[in-house]
Amino acid sequence: MIEGIGIDIVDVERFKGAVERRGERFLRRLFTDSELLYARGKKRTETHLAARFAAKVSVMKAVGAHQNLRSIEITNDGSGRPVAEASGLDKNLRISISITHDGGLAVAKAVIERL
Ligand SMILES: CC(C)(COP(=O)(O)OP(=O)(O)OC[C@H]1O[C@@H](n2cnc3c(N)ncnc32)[C@H](O)[C@@H]1OP(=O)(O)O)[C@@H](O)C(=O)NCCC(=O)NCCS
Repeated sequence: MIEGIGIDIVDVERFKGAVERRGERFLRRLFTDSELLYARGKKRTETHLAARFAAKVSVMKAVGAHQNLRSIEITNDGSGRPVAEASGLDKNLRISISITHDGGLAVAKAVIERL
């Protein structure tokens, strides 16, 4: 049964501006080491970070409760498919996410199901 859905959109340039103004501490508050490593390994680092930010917010909306964004981690499986884990989430809940980025925007959608 679907328990919740969430969606978010991030303007990559605006996000990049926030990173430039607020620096590394801002990034460390939002992202885990593995998320930073993934995005920094890509040519368009800010796009992948903006996408991860959108994915975290979409998960938070699907969960329906405010959460520290760093406690939601976005990784990618062997095929590149994004996977979300939220610490402290009920083990009977499964999160599925999808990410896209194009034209200066990053979009993510999350669905939470009760198993
Ligand atoms: C999946 C794919 C079509 C997306 O390509 P695209 O339209 O250029 O890229 P978009 O901007 O729309 O989406 C990029 C996001 O797709 C997601 N993605 C990548 N591979 C994926 C996959 N196999 N399944 C689901 N999502 C995938 C990632 O989250 C990626 O963003 P990230 O690197 O920041 O995490 C492309 O990566 C691909 O062809 N992959 C290999 C083939 C494959 O596994 N296809 C099956 C999926 S239908």
